[in-house]
Amino acid sequence: MFHKTAEIKVLRDPIHGYIHVEDQVIWDCINAKEMQRLRRIHQLGGDFQIYHTAEHSRFSHSLGVYEIVRRMVHEILELSQQLSEYEKIAVMLAGLLHDIGHGPFSHAFEAISRRKHEEFTRKIITEDSEIHATLQKVHPHLSDDVANIISGTHQNDLLNQIISGQLDADRMDYLLRDAYFTGTSYGHFDLERIIRTMRIVDQKLAVKESGIHSVEDYIMARYHMYWQVYLHPVARSYEGLIAMLFHRMRDLYCTKRDSLNEVSMFHPFLSGQETSIDDLFCLDEAAAYYGFSLLRTHEDAILRDLTRRVLDRDLFEYRTFTCEEDSEMIRERLRTLNYDERYYIFTDKAAEKLYSPYSRKDSGHNIWILCEDHRVRELSEVSDMVHAVCASPTKEERKVYFPKEVMMD
Ligand code: NI
Repeated sequence: MFHKTAEIKVLRDPIHGYIHVEDQVIWDCINAKEMQRLRRIHQLGGDFQIYHTAEHSRFSHSLGVYEIVRRMVHEILELSQQLSEYEKIAVMLAGLLHDIGHGPFSHAFEAISRRKHEEFTRKIITEDSEIHATLQKVHPHLSDDVANIISGTHQNDLLNQIISGQLDADRMDYLLRDAYFTGTSYGHFDLERIIRTMRIVDQKLAVKESGIHSVEDYIMARYHMYWQVYLHPVARSYEGLIAMLFHRMRDLYCTKRDSLNEVSMFHPFLSGQETSIDDLFCLDEAAAYYGFSLLRTHEDAILRDLTRRVLDRDLFEYRTFTCEEDSEMIRERLRTLNYDERYYIFTDKAAEKLYSPYSRKDSGHNIWILCEDHRVRELSEVSDMVHAVCASPTKEERKVYFPKEVMMD
């Protein structure tokens, strides 16, 4: 049922050394056009505006997740014995394809398209696409199984845990990869040791007690990466600005549609109607930036200005938001300076807890430690460090963003 490639394909990778492919269906999916499109989407959206080397793509991250899954299903003894060939292939494919539905600029784009990338991911895998045709040729149930693993609803929960648990292949790859490409000294942890100490107990992915320090390190890596990279206020400022630009475009689309004829790549997402896989396929970041370059000379002054800000990195300023009066004062100033409040101010709330055990319903997705007495315990019961962290309140920051000129004094 599953053909091997004529010889093992190896792809160089700065995080994993090499990525190994020996299954024809994996290789065919890598070469499908929907997968190749991910080369044109930045893994970290607009973060390269802050970390100038964060130019890596969702394509490399997807290959990295695939490689971690491949190693897990072959190197963790219980997985290699318990999973069938079909299940191994399905979960490796889920690793490879889990981000296939992403649009440009991640969240800013989701706000305008009003579609979550998860919806597009399922559509691409289960509906009319090269990926779907490739999976269909191998087995009639394969595309549904892959989509279910990605959404965490597959009947074999072990497969779901490998892709989206608290210590899953997706997070392990992006933390290491994003740390490497942003050039931060946070975000590193011992992936080798985590894989080597992973076991399966009662259908749960667990790490042996001897690997607990690498897990603690992973938790800290996650915390630092969130505050230093993912929730970085300047990164949020850039993303917010793009959201404002899309917002203005959407309003013009309703009132002066003809003025947007040149930027047809955005139309399907501005109309608020059902969008197709093809619409998404045509809108990668290269197309979006081309669209922006056309809008630089647009007749609408607001659209022109927001576009210029995005392209020339003239970002909004921010202040920590303490009370409603703060934002009222900024609004007052905006009005004095003739800025349209609808597009020149936004607030953002960032919150991240280091680690908190999920509710009982999802307990299969906690981090489990296999203790020396052979019992399995949840991480915070075994690690003093994680225990202390779980007891502390969630760190939260609210910020308000506005043009620099507003706060000249
Ligand atoms: Ni991912």
